[in-house]
Amino acid sequence: MKFFIDTANMEEIREAYTLGILSGVTTNPSLVAKEKNVKFEDRLKEITELVPGSVSAEVIALDAEGMIKEGKELAEIAPNITVKVPMTPEGLKAVSVFSKEGIKTNVTLVFSANQALLAARAGATYVSPFLGRLDDIGHNGLDLISTIAEIFTIHGIDTEIIAASIRHPQHVTDAALRGAHIATVPYKVIQQMFNHPLTDKGIEAFLKDWESRGK
Ligand code: E4P
Repeated sequence: MKFFIDTANMEEIREAYTLGILSGVTTNPSLVAKEKNVKFEDRLKEITELVPGSVSAEVIALDAEGMIKEGKELAEIAPNITVKVPMTPEGLKAVSVFSKEGIKTNVTLVFSANQALLAARAGATYVSPFLGRLDDIGHNGLDLISTIAEIFTIHGIDTEIIAASIRHPQHVTDAALRGAHIATVPYKVIQQMFNHPLTDKGIEAFLKDWESRGK
């Protein structure tokens, strides 16, 4: 499973990138809105210049025509832009056009296996099932990942599954086990993934022993 970071914040992206773990970035309108006094297009340019992998940028229009127009403008910014489109009939009309034109797409707000299958058949490069938001309403987000992964394998579908709406490190482990190709992870969760008390304790003990060595 590969890692994307789920943020529009440049410091977080830079930090994660220097760790050498990053294969891409996802943004959404809420994440972009947190970045004050930054033009969306400028931020996308900055991100795409740093990270060579897929950078998802979401359209705002709700009709296919509007999404196609916005998506094409976003795709002009850099070759590694992936146009993020909501899982609606209008969204899939747009995905189908983008797919024929070789523009990569990420179908977002996926909450069922049928939605993922429809998106894949429309030509989506990625589908993003939202784990945390399903868990929030008492459903099992991880079971959805397994079901989509199984369906895609049975039918030889090459659309990649991005486990999204990740809330904690255990989501990451479980998404990997359930067959997600990618997890898009908030910076805070990436940091949490490093933590283990025995690592800290081990470093402390090694340093202490080193200091007390006979010379
Ligand atoms: C994915 O692409 C979305 O931006 C994101 O994972 C949504 O997560 P949230 O449910 O924490 O807002």
